[in-house]
Parts: sequence; C-alpha cells; structure tokens
Amino acid sequence: MRVLLTGANGFVGSHILDELCQRGIETAILLRSTSSTLLISQHLNQVEIIRGSLNDISSLRKAVEKITHIIHCAGLVRALNPTEFFKVNRDGTQNLVSAVNSAGKNVERFILFSSLAASGPSSQDQPRREEDEPSPISYYGESKLAGEKVVIGECKVNYTILRPPAVYGPRDGEFLRLFKAVKNHILPMFGGGKQPLSLVYVKDLASTAVETLFASKTTGKIYFVASPEFTTALGFAKTIKEVMNVWTVPLCLPVQGLYPVCLCQEIFSKITKKPTVLDRQKYKELSAPGWTCDVSKIKNELGLICKTSLKQGIEQTLQWYYSERWIK
Ligand SMILES: NC(=O)c1ccc[n+]([C@@H]2O[C@H](COP(=O)([O-])OP(=O)(O)OC[C@H]3O[C@@H](n4cnc5c(N)ncnc54)[C@H](OP(=O)(O)O)[C@@H]3O)[C@@H](O)[C@H]2O)c1
Repeated sequence: MRVLLTGANGFVGSHILDELCQRGIETAILLRSTSSTLLISQHLNQVEIIRGSLNDISSLRKAVEKITHIIHCAGLVRALNPTEFFKVNRDGTQNLVSAVNSAGKNVERFILFSSLAASGPSSQDQPRREEDEPSPISYYGESKLAGEKVVIGECKVNYTILRPPAVYGPRDGEFLRLFKAVKNHILPMFGGGKQPLSLVYVKDLASTAVETLFASKTTGKIYFVASPEFTTALGFAKTIKEVMNVWTVPLCLPVQGLYPVCLCQEIFSKITKKPTVLDRQKYKELSAPGWTCDVSKIKNELGLICKTSLKQGIEQTLQWYYSERWIK
C-alpha cells in the first residue's frame, strides 16, 4: 500500500498524516510550492513530498504514478467568490480523477473528503441521511457536491465519499474563536444558540478515513462521519466553559442581528481580498434549522464509530491550545 494524501498540511489532513505515519503506512503528500509545513514538520522525513497543485494536471499525473490508495482531503473551505470554490472543489477534484484514470494504473481506492454542506442542512429534529436528496445552501456546499458528482460520474477506480460535519480539535483555527470568547468570559448565544449540530472530533475523523482505506464494503458509497452525540452552539460553548471552569456572561443576539455583521465582514473581505468566515453565506448556514446527520450507515456497514465525547474532545483541544499557546 502506498497512499497519496492531498491537503496533508491543512487542519484535517495533518491529523490524517499523523494517523498514516503512526500506522507505518507508506505515504506521499501533495504540497504546493506555497504550502506551509508548520503543522506537519515532524513527519517530513517520513514521507515523500510531491510538489504540485490540484489545478496542475501534469503534476497530478506524476503524483499518482506509484500510488495504490488516495485520500483526497485538499479543498477550499473559505473563498472570496463561488468561482474560487468551484475551481478547487470541483475542477481540482476533476483533475485528480482524470490523472487517476489516465496515469494511476496501480490505484485501487479513491477516498474523497466531501462535507455535510454538500448534503445541506437538516430539520430541527430529523438528521440528514446519506440517501436524502442533496440541497446545499452555500457556494461551498454546492462546490463540494459538484466534486462528489465528478467522482461518482467519472472515477474509474473504487471510490468512497466521506461527509463530515464541522470538525473541531487541535490545530483548528475556527472553533478557536469560541474558545477564546469563553476564556474572555463571553458565552455567545446567537439566535439562542439552539440550532442542533453534529460535530466530529478531528482525530476520530482521521482514524475513520484511514480505516476506510482497508474496508472492503465501501465501494461507491457515501458516509457521514460524525459523533453520534448531537449538540448545539450553546451546548458546545457551555462545555468549553465547564472544562475551562470560568464564569461567563451570555452575549445574546437574535440570528437576524448577525446579518449586518456578516454583510460588513463580507464587504471588508472584498476590499482586503481576504476570505472571511462570517459572510452572507455563513449567515444562511447560521439561520438554517439544523446541521445534524445520522451516522448509523457507517456504524452498521463498517462498524466505525466516532467515540470521543464532546467533553473529552474539548478537553484535548483545550490542552493543545494551551500547550501551543494558541490560548494564553
Ligand atoms: N474543517 C471542517 O470543519 C470541514 C468540515 C467538513 C469537510 N471538510 C473538508 O475537509 C477537507 C480539509 O479541510 P480543512 O479544514 O483541513 O481545510 P484547510 O486547513 O484549509 O486545508 C485545506 C488543504 O487543501 C489544500 N489545497 C487547497 N487548494 C489546493 C490546491 N489548489 N491544490 C492543492 N492543495 C490545495 C491546502 O493547501 P495549501 O496549504 O497549499 O493552501 C490545505 O492543505 C476539505 O476538503 C474540506 O472541504 C472540512
């Protein structure tokens, strides 16, 4: 087995790389000339580094030559406009699939990292299931769904699609804001904080992705990968508060109150040409009734369960933030 991991230097990919290296699996990683290796420096002497990009098909043809398994984790999670999302999440995936079809004569398995966003939001009380008709509500979700369609329609080797919901854990810079707010005694309660959520702890996600390499019954299938425990934004923040053992003051804002904030951030991001997390796309996601998914398919078919409880995950994340001084 020789695995090609894309997106290895990113948040999720770096944990997959940890898992592959821990298990002694021969691994090659695709890095751009501009990619930072800060999160993966400990592994650089254990892996082959292949320079290339999802938007450079000749680099991808070379990258897949001696590969037997691919975990395609690279993707764009933040962008200035839909074109940027589609360029990476759809067209980049298409380039990789074409490279596999034309030059990947040894490739046996292709794993695509998609997202719950490709499926779309859930209702308040009905988690999304894999067979539900996809109805993404953001450009990001649409581009991830388009990536799935490329794999389903064109990939000539066995493929599996994984759809995680929001991911948290060590090395994540998104939920870090919430940890910092709680540390500063603020308990955000946007829209009451009651939107039901599925989440996944990053190390559970990474080990599931690697397990999927070995699972024989996953061919042509889509799986949600998440903790079976549902929470809410408020529940998550309260667990952080409990683990940190700090007092907090609730910051209540109706979800509509976020719209002007998101609009201003979006305008600012267009001026500075730096993608933002809070924009009108994010507002749509925050006003959806829920973001939960049913994980019984992956549990029943593959016996895979994301076992880390929310409290354990938050404890481990906080420990890491403190040790790396991301939170002081
Ligand atoms: N984080 C979440 O909550 C979440 C939830 C569901 C699904 N996902 C999916 O999980 C995957 C990883 O997300 P993440 O949170 O780890 O994101 P991330 O930290 O932003 O990492 C993204 C990775 O993709 C690489 N990449 C982007 N454009 C590329 C290109 N044109 N060519 C080659 N590599 C490229 C980046 O490389 P550079 O460093 O060179 O830019 C980086 O390694 C994505 O597919 C995402 O859609 C994430």
